[in-house]
Amino acid sequence: MAPQLRFTPFLLLRGFAAAKTCTNLTIPVNIESRQGLFKTIPFEGNLDATTFSQEFTNIGQNYSNVLLKDYQTVRGQYKISAKFCHPDNGTTSSVVQVLTHGIGFDKSYWDLPFNNYNYSYTDRAISHGYSTLAIDRLGIGNSSHGDPINVIQAQAEVEALNDITGLLRNGSVPSIDTSFHKVVHVGHSFGSVQSYWLSALYPDNTDGLILTGWSTNGTWLPATIASWNLHLARLNQPLRFGNSSNSGVLNLIKNDNQGEGLIKTILTLLQSVEVDLPNQDIWDVIATTEVGDLINGYNQTIEPLNYPGGYMAWSDFTANQYAFLLPGYYDLALGLFAERTKQPVTAGELLTIGSSPPSSSFSGPVLVVTGEQDAIFCGGDCYATGSAADSIPAAAEVAFPNASVFEAYIQPNTGHGLNAHYNSTGAYEVIQNWLEDHGLES
Ligand SMILES: *[C@@H]1O[C@H](CO)[C@@H](O)[C@H](O)[C@H]1NC(C)=O
Ligand SMILES: *[C@@H]1O[C@H](CO)[C@@H](O)[C@H](O)[C@H]1NC(C)=O
Ligand SMILES: *[C@@H]1O[C@H](CO)[C@@H](O)[C@H](O)[C@H]1NC(C)=O
Ligand SMILES: *[C@@H]1O[C@H](CO)[C@@H](O)[C@H](O)[C@H]1NC(C)=O
Ligand SMILES: *[C@@H]1O[C@H](CO)[C@@H](O)[C@H](O)[C@H]1NC(C)=O
Ligand SMILES: *[C@@H]1O[C@H](CO)[C@@H](O)[C@H](O)[C@H]1NC(C)=O
Ligand SMILES: *[C@@H]1O[C@H](CO)[C@@H](O)[C@H](O)[C@H]1NC(C)=O
Ligand SMILES: *[C@@H]1O[C@H](CO)[C@@H](O)[C@H](O)[C@H]1NC(C)=O
Ligand SMILES: *[C@@H]1O[C@H](CO)[C@@H](O)[C@H](O)[C@H]1NC(C)=O
Ligand SMILES: *[C@@H]1O[C@H](CO)[C@@H](O)[C@H](O)[C@H]1NC(C)=O
Ligand SMILES: *[C@@H]1O[C@H](CO)[C@@H](O)[C@H](O)[C@H]1NC(C)=O
Repeated sequence: MAPQLRFTPFLLLRGFAAAKTCTNLTIPVNIESRQGLFKTIPFEGNLDATTFSQEFTNIGQNYSNVLLKDYQTVRGQYKISAKFCHPDNGTTSSVVQVLTHGIGFDKSYWDLPFNNYNYSYTDRAISHGYSTLAIDRLGIGNSSHGDPINVIQAQAEVEALNDITGLLRNGSVPSIDTSFHKVVHVGHSFGSVQSYWLSALYPDNTDGLILTGWSTNGTWLPATIASWNLHLARLNQPLRFGNSSNSGVLNLIKNDNQGEGLIKTILTLLQSVEVDLPNQDIWDVIATTEVGDLINGYNQTIEPLNYPGGYMAWSDFTANQYAFLLPGYYDLALGLFAERTKQPVTAGELLTIGSSPPSSSFSGPVLVVTGEQDAIFCGGDCYATGSAADSIPAAAEVAFPNASVFEAYIQPNTGHGLNAHYNSTGAYEVIQNWLEDHGLES
């Protein structure tokens, strides 16, 4: 039976179970990053994004290498948008977890407001007494944006993460009046790549690594890029990512008393011209395709992010499910929510995502937690190793020759977007308990 797809209004009720106090912060960071200087390539329209994907996935070349002209040093002060949370009872632990999101998300990945916050990683960490700092990676969300090819690259983002870590240790983050003795880096996907990368460059600046949605096996990156069907972010969700204004639409639907605004209008229009589509099909066309992205935000007061062309986004909710969500094990309404609130990726990020150091001399504990059916880092089955290792993520052990302990945990019934699955809280508990068992209790 086809799943029932509807736009379910999400409830913005503050979680009663969430005994946490949070503040929004803007943290100035200073970075100095030695990174690639790439040739300029056009990003004028959607077909340029397609061309980028074709070049990127061409097996006859390493596109990063093809475009690489030279290396450069990017220096400057940037702003990182962050959400800091600590337990309600006023205590701030001596251990802080720094949470770094992956591609397509922002800091809200760790504290999803969906369904009364019952997918919140932050809430679980708080209930174990930890403080958390979730950041928008440099270039994304409400952090400073920048040149999507030559500034917003992996290394620059790692440098920003490293600077924030130092600030947390010496108590210099504005409006956090605590010096944390221990910093645990928790990542998801590209955020795990960066947390790993930090541990390789600055092994003394982390006390523990939790790498979710991650392995060291890059085999499925090209398939992932292909499946995303990348388009320019500003054309994909013009109201959020472009500079389009929705004031006209807001005026149009102002007097609409059906309560469903533009979608209802489209539905009525299609019916009035006798388009032979059942309502359910029309909902499906809007919700699962780029039509949904096109009108996303039409009925809200939004501040367009005005991203330049080298910022791209996967095309629609079908691409989102393919890469991130395991059918049957996630709530469609949460999938639609994730699509509506998705974030872009830069060309510079994709060109540098595979350039992390080959190993890390970090000497503390490392836990990898990857969904068993992760498409991006396990090709859909983390156990399909042909007995070469216990699991594909377990093979990452060789990248940590000096780790005090390395463990790979495979979370059942879960795709790449771990936090968006029904049993995400099961994985969160595994993580908090593991930290407590490895000398990183709050
Ligand atoms: C905007 O439309 C979406 C989709 O129909 C709906 O879920 C949401 O509640 C609407 N928001 C507002 C502010 O009306
Ligand atoms: C933090 O920012 C978010 C997004 O703008 C907002 O919804 C929330 O109310 C803010 N929280 C606080 C404590 O100011
Ligand atoms: C591709 O080229 C880049 C830039 O020279 C390099 O950092 C990366 O390691 C190369 N990737 C592979 C798989 O060889
Ligand atoms: C504060 O709350 C946290 C989370 O519930 C708990 O772990 C911690 O023990 C509490 N601290 C005090 C002093 O009550
Ligand atoms: C982004 O940051 C600005 C301040 O730099 C703040 O006014 C705004 O509310 C923030 N928006 C979100 C969505 O966090
Ligand atoms: C605090 O840490 C930051 C980032 O590592 C560093 O730039 C700064 O000099 C440090 N400040 C003090 C007072 O140690
Ligand atoms: C919006 O962006 C486009 C493309 O970057 C530009 O041509 C146009 O002038 C911008 N419009 C406004 C109102 O800023
Ligand atoms: C691992 O630690 C040993 C000493 O315990 C040291 O000799 C070696 O260089 C370290 N390996 C790396 C890759 O840093
Ligand atoms: C990636 O995993 C696949 C499937 O287990 C395996 O065949 C391949 O050798 C692995 N590649 C690397 C670089 O580890
Ligand atoms: C959140 O609650 C819904 C139903 O209220 C349930 O189906 C879902 O599994 C819960 N998710 C998590 C992560 O607890
Ligand atoms: C939920 O996750 C926990 C932790 O990984 C696991 O022990 C449990 O079996 C999972 N439950 C289901 C129904 O998959």
